[in-house]
Amino acid sequence: MNFHVLTLFPDMIRDGFQTSITGRAMAKGLLSMEAINIRDFSVNKHNRVDDYPYGGGAGMVMQAEPVYLAYESVASRLEKKPRVLYMSPQGKVFNQRMAEELAREEELIFLCGHYEGIDERVLEEIVDDEVSIGDYVLTGGELPALVIMDAISRLLDGVLHNEESAEFDSFHDNLLEYPQYSRPEEWRGKKVPPILLSGHHVNVEKWRREQSLIRTKERRPDLLEHAQLTKNDKKFLAKLEEL
Ligand code: ADE
Repeated sequence: MNFHVLTLFPDMIRDGFQTSITGRAMAKGLLSMEAINIRDFSVNKHNRVDDYPYGGGAGMVMQAEPVYLAYESVASRLEKKPRVLYMSPQGKVFNQRMAEELAREEELIFLCGHYEGIDERVLEEIVDDEVSIGDYVLTGGELPALVIMDAISRLLDGVLHNEESAEFDSFHDNLLEYPQYSRPEEWRGKKVPPILLSGHHVNVEKWRREQSLIRTKERRPDLLEHAQLTKNDKKFLAKLEEL
């Protein structure tokens, strides 16, 4: 996977991505990331990349040409037209299913906007998907791009160690994760659930599955409708209803 990020704040992208697991994955050559500064493609002698909106109104709009040239500087090096994701609160709300789908691409371009938005004409020309990370408004698309790249990266082969495996995460099965405990056995009077100390793997797995079901039902009942439930799961949930 090769990520290309078109942004006015390349340091924010580099600093964010070079840290922790995504940084380790880059160092190992499992993926690559480049941040392209849109300002380097300014067509204005003062290096400006924004201008007043036609029709008036507050704020400034990012101009089409610098964005297009920044895009072309990447696309011209690639064999086929890369998929371009525009970070915008007006886009489709990102989720784990989208992360899984995007993880199958070879190249991805992230376009990060600032100010009041980007001239619509360049969006029409280059953008394939408009993506939001939730119903709130941020100052720019950089944090959303980092969020989405992070969610994709951890699904790529070799990025997580076995023990960090993505397979057992929240949302993997449309179920939330069960609670985790580590040493000490008793912390400030609170004990670890005894079943986890029993060494009985079958019972531990059963307990964890039930905890996942309880959590999902309590916190995210909307997910349960899409979860793959076994007969035993359904029986357990029905029993919860009776309580
Ligand atoms: N840009 C500003 N807010 C955003 C959001 N919630 N998602 C994606 N891009 C954004």
